[in-house]
Amino acid sequence: MATIPYKIYLSEEEMPKHWLNLRSKMKELPEPFVNPGTGEYCTREDLLPVFCEELVDQELNTTDEFIEIPEDIRNFYKMYRPSPLVRAYCLEKLLDTPAEIYYKYEGSNTSGSHKLNSAAAQAYYAKKQGLTSLTTETGAGQWGTALSMACAYYNLDLSVYMVKVSAEQKPHRRAVMETYGAKVISSPSDTTVAGRKILAANPDTGGSLGCAISEAIEVAVTSDNCKYVLGSVLNHVGLHQSIIGLETKIACDKYDIKPDIIIGCAGGGSNLLGLIAPFMAERIEGKNNIDFVAVEPASCPSLTRGRYALDFGDTGQTTPLIKMYTLGSGFMPAPNHAGGLRYHGMSPIISKLYHDGYIRGKSYTQSEVFESATQFARIEGILPAPESAHAIRAAIEEALACKESGEKKTIIFGLTGTGYFDMTAYMNYNAGNMTDYIPTDEDLQKGFDTLPQIEQK
Ligand SMILES: Cc1ncc(COP(=O)(O)O)c(C=O)c1O
Repeated sequence: MATIPYKIYLSEEEMPKHWLNLRSKMKELPEPFVNPGTGEYCTREDLLPVFCEELVDQELNTTDEFIEIPEDIRNFYKMYRPSPLVRAYCLEKLLDTPAEIYYKYEGSNTSGSHKLNSAAAQAYYAKKQGLTSLTTETGAGQWGTALSMACAYYNLDLSVYMVKVSAEQKPHRRAVMETYGAKVISSPSDTTVAGRKILAANPDTGGSLGCAISEAIEVAVTSDNCKYVLGSVLNHVGLHQSIIGLETKIACDKYDIKPDIIIGCAGGGSNLLGLIAPFMAERIEGKNNIDFVAVEPASCPSLTRGRYALDFGDTGQTTPLIKMYTLGSGFMPAPNHAGGLRYHGMSPIISKLYHDGYIRGKSYTQSEVFESATQFARIEGILPAPESAHAIRAAIEEALACKESGEKKTIIFGLTGTGYFDMTAYMNYNAGNMTDYIPTDEDLQKGFDTLPQIEQK
């Protein structure tokens, strides 16, 4: 048996040429989007005013197992892929665990996270369609940065609505996006009807992804040659992220690594969906019995305390209705540092798999998460994004459980990004100033009260 290196790198030739569409493998599909106006399932025509054509087709494609990655996108990917699958030998030693721990590291590109995998694809399809500009939202700033890079490459104008609290905490993120040519607007803003409405109702709000989405969609549908793109939640975003799981699977097969547990942090669910895709496809076929774990912040617990219901994807209630685990589109998360995990909903595919028992959920407070982030940074060298550190926390807990039981499980987790722009949060943690907020049932009820009153099919 070959010794497993610290880092398994694939060659460029080994990089997948197709994305994997997990829905083609699911025994039961997630419910299609519902048009809130008619109560009917959304058609292609309903989605085209907002999204690029090819992305709408990918969104609605439930049958093709593989979708070719155009050569142009593969060449873009080669700027920073394949990404390494790292054996966490140092962490294993520190924890004194019999478990084998691996992480797929997506943080080694300039944008700093996995988000570039979908940004590259979405900008490519926009350009191919002849569009001249795009709008989007960003929470922690990772998605906005990734899309800024992709739009610079494809010469597209970009407006980024950035959640206000993040924009204030991370001025350097904004500067990177502007360096790549994007226009960055703090959300809620007075530049849109949706933003003005949210500000009138809640003038001191720190904003949320839901608000920022409403603003970005409004600008896209009222501007010529412009569409809206989203960095998570939607099926086509998860599809693009399957490159993470496909590369991981090739690396595992090369070294006969058989995961028992696969862990990912879950904001809108895209990295988790991408990481697990090929492994989940096999699990559905009865070929493995992997324990899949989704990790979320205790402050925004859409899977672990949310409702499985039809809901809007945005606070302004302009999107189609999505059947997903949700805290309600009116849920306002506390302005803490869980950054990109502060979204009220969840990928409909992840939601369905969770509902059907294929995935379990865990949640942690941010103090717990930063404790693990710091431990990981000190022993493995990489300074993780707070989002990614949710998965680190769960992996460490699983490895310590192995130490207790003596089991030699193989654990893989997604290390989705770096934390260089999260130093305000690290500074708070280091100074002992970090506060934890766990919503009460009454707090959550306020969000559930905003769920649309629509007959569930
Ligand atoms: C580094 C990082 N990891 C994870 C996420 C969560 O997103 P998703 O659940 O779509 O992967 C984000 C979102 O901003 C992020 O920036």
